[in-house]
Amino acid sequence: MNSFGKIFRLSVFGESHGQAIGVVLDGVPPGMLLAEEDFLPDLARRKSGAPGTTPRTEPDRPRLISGIYNGYTTGAPLTILFENKDIRSTDYALFTDIPRPGHADFTARTKFKGFNDPRGGGHFSGRMTLALVAAGVVAKKMIPAIKIKAEILEIDGDADIQKVLKSLKESGDSVGGIISCTATDIPAGWGEPFFDSMESMISHIVFSIPAIKGIEFGSGFASARMRGSECNDRYTDVSGTTATNHSGGINGGISNGNDLIFRVAVKPASSISLPQQTLNFKTGIMENLEIQGRHDACIALRMPVIIEAATAVCLADMMLQSI
Ligand SMILES: Cc1cc2nc3c(=O)[nH]c(=O)nc-3n(C[C@H](O)[C@H](O)[C@H](O)COP(=O)(O)O)c2cc1C
Repeated sequence: MNSFGKIFRLSVFGESHGQAIGVVLDGVPPGMLLAEEDFLPDLARRKSGAPGTTPRTEPDRPRLISGIYNGYTTGAPLTILFENKDIRSTDYALFTDIPRPGHADFTARTKFKGFNDPRGGGHFSGRMTLALVAAGVVAKKMIPAIKIKAEILEIDGDADIQKVLKSLKESGDSVGGIISCTATDIPAGWGEPFFDSMESMISHIVFSIPAIKGIEFGSGFASARMRGSECNDRYTDVSGTTATNHSGGINGGISNGNDLIFRVAVKPASSISLPQQTLNFKTGIMENLEIQGRHDACIALRMPVIIEAATAVCLADMMLQSI
């Protein structure tokens, strides 16, 4: 559904072109100093407007409307609300008859029997990740000793991001990318052996982010081509420090005290202005669809802070479960 977490639990709500989007956080510890200004640096990192991102400009001003009193969290559900201001819904009218290839227009309509809000991608929009980033700010405060850093490794298969962006501008196409994420100083012992393994829980929340299509921990798929003698992470002290980290900081679903390391694959945005032959569901005829409007040509550019937030939310919940 629209909730994640066992003790630190978040529920996201809203639609891209509705009145507002937001998040309700349950399980926030009481007595944490929290102000709207605390959210601004991470929210700014997710903002659009730079080359390769949508020109839609939203103020993204968070409003803390419950769970806060005299500047401190109360322990009651914390609600963070963002109003939607820069809306141009006419750009999306066409997608009712001609669902965008690669987007959720068709699946949303099918699942919700045509009652879904299609404007701006509705509840399937990348805008929903604003709520996740806000939740991440709170989560990061709950686990201050853990440092989480995500960065772009490549876009369109190239580490030279500026070069790709230059050639992308006039192409009418979109590109994907790979993001790496490292979280340091996670205590050994968080996570469960099977269904709630640390890999499962991180993957669960990361795959909730629109446009994520792959994840690997440590050496991931490359470990399938290693021998045990190369892949085994040898211990160098009794706290469990290892000489290498092919495991990505997890053994048996449980953190081993070394860095949590994973990478994710972000697909190219499906909304491209290049013509695509696809079905008009109303007429039954294949047509050339040329998507106009405002879109991210490279979603990966906005992804690092979103991945950090997802990781922080998951780790904050695991921390509470481990107490
Ligand atoms: C920050 C962010 C921005 C996005 N911007 C766009 C966009 O401008 N155009 C688009 O077609 N998809 C965009 N997406 C991706 C769609 O939301 C996503 O492809 C769609 O919901 C279908 O989900 P799936 O790709 O995970 O299957 C964005 C995703 C994120 C996380």
